[in-house]
Formats: sequence, structure tokens, C-alpha cells
Amino acid sequence: APPVRGSVELRGVRFGYADGPDVLRGLDLVVPAGQTHAVVGSTGAGKSSLLRLVLRFSDPREGQVLLDGTDVRELGWDALRGAIGYVSQDVFLFHGTVRDNLAYGRVDATDEQVQEAARQAEAHAFITALPQGYDTVVGERGQTLSGGQRQRIALARAILRDPALLVLDEATSAVDTETEAAIQRSLAAVTASRTALVVAHRLSTVRDADRIWVLADGRVAEAGSHDELVEAGGIYAGLWAV
Ligand code: GTP
Repeated sequence: APPVRGSVELRGVRFGYADGPDVLRGLDLVVPAGQTHAVVGSTGAGKSSLLRLVLRFSDPREGQVLLDGTDVRELGWDALRGAIGYVSQDVFLFHGTVRDNLAYGRVDATDEQVQEAARQAEAHAFITALPQGYDTVVGERGQTLSGGQRQRIALARAILRDPALLVLDEATSAVDTETEAAIQRSLAAVTASRTALVVAHRLSTVRDADRIWVLADGRVAEAGSHDELVEAGGIYAGLWAV
């Protein structure tokens, strides 16, 4: 099997928007290839800003963002897009069939590949229960699907593109426990063979992560496994009231 790729490293990253103040103030973080790491922190801590830098939607004021050891500023856009699968909170669905939405970015995919990806993402069952199954047309903003269903479509879409690194901004919207369990199984399948960096809002996601980074005031305040951080009794323990 080919080596697992998708390692991420932030070295001394300082970042702010336009001429605004620093939002990230000297951030150091490493996600080794093959691991799943979670980023948590209160509102405004800089979680989404961190993801923006990895995706190169923005560049740091100081410091470096490395993907597999190469500064993302030195990677071409095609290499960067090919290596990273991004699932945002606000899943982008266009007016078209579920199948076409799944195959976005992989128009060459066969029906078998599309359905296999949907199965892995725990999306196959609800798709086949739709009036026209995979041929069901979803609206421009996917209103016919729930938030949890939209995220599973986006995860299936990411599986189809087979990126080395999955960057996920977990949806904050409340879902029932059954949907949460389905999303969790989906996430576990997607991250089993690749590297993942997740802004996590659900306890189940955070618990399962190899390492959790707790951001506060634009810095890493704590890092460790769920058990380690609970034991430490700091910000993390308070965030989840565990
Ligand atoms: P939540 O998504 O609310 O959990 O917060 P977060 O931890 O993801 O923080 P985020 O990175 O979104 O924001 C960090 C700081 O940057 C906050 O003070 C925001 O107000 C600010 N910020 C975020 N996006 C922008 C932007 O597009 N422009 C400007 N000027 N500031 C921004």
C-alpha cells in the first residue's frame, strides 16, 4: 500500500484579517499522517481561521503552514486541491440530482463508485429512501435534505475524491442522537485510511480523535487525548463539563 500522506504542520503562525488585529498569535500544531485531530475552543478562538490557512484561503502574517513537509505557498493550486478534501459547515449543493452532487469534482465516477462512497458515508440508506433515489433533484441550497444528510453527502463527495487530508468544519446545528451516530460512523470510515483535521462541535468526534487541540485567544492552550485533558481539569474539561 502507498504511504499515508496528508501530514499538517503549523509553525509559529501569526494571522489576522486585512489590517485587523492578530487572531492567531504564534500557533504551533502538528497532525502526523494517518491521524485524526480535533480542534476545539470557544467562539472566536480562531478555529475557522486555522482551517482557512491550511486550505490557503488566507496566508499567515508570520510563520509557515506545511503539508507533507512542503510550505503550502510553494505547492501549486492543483496539488493543494488534489490533496485536501474540505467539508464546510455550510455544505455546497447545486440544483441537480443527488448523484451529480455526489460526483462533483469526480464527473468520471461510475454509479458503482458513487454508491460505494455513499455507503461508506452512511448516506446510501437515506438516499434510496428519497422519492427518486439517486436521481432525486435537490434544490440550490439542498433544502430537501436535513443538515445531517447534507454533511453525509459532503463526506461521500470527499471519499470519492480520495484526498490525502480531510479538513472538516463540523456542522454546529443540532441533530438527533441517531443522526449524530450516523455522522460519526461516516466520519470514522472516511478518516480510517487518511489524515483528518476536524473543527469539532460534537463530543463523540472529539472523544475519538487521536489528539485534541484546545485553542484560546489565538493560541494552543492545551493539547492531548480526551482522557489526558479531562485528567488535567483545564479548559477542555470545562468546555464539555465532563
Ligand atoms: P466560531 O466559528 O464562532 O466557533 O469561532 P472560531 O473559533 O472559528 O473563530 P474564527 O476563526 O471564526 O474567528 C476568530 C476571530 O477572527 C474573531 O474575532 C472573528 O471576529 C474574526 N474574524 C473571523 N472571520 C473574519 C473575517 O472574515 N474578517 C475579519 N475582519 N475578522 C474575522
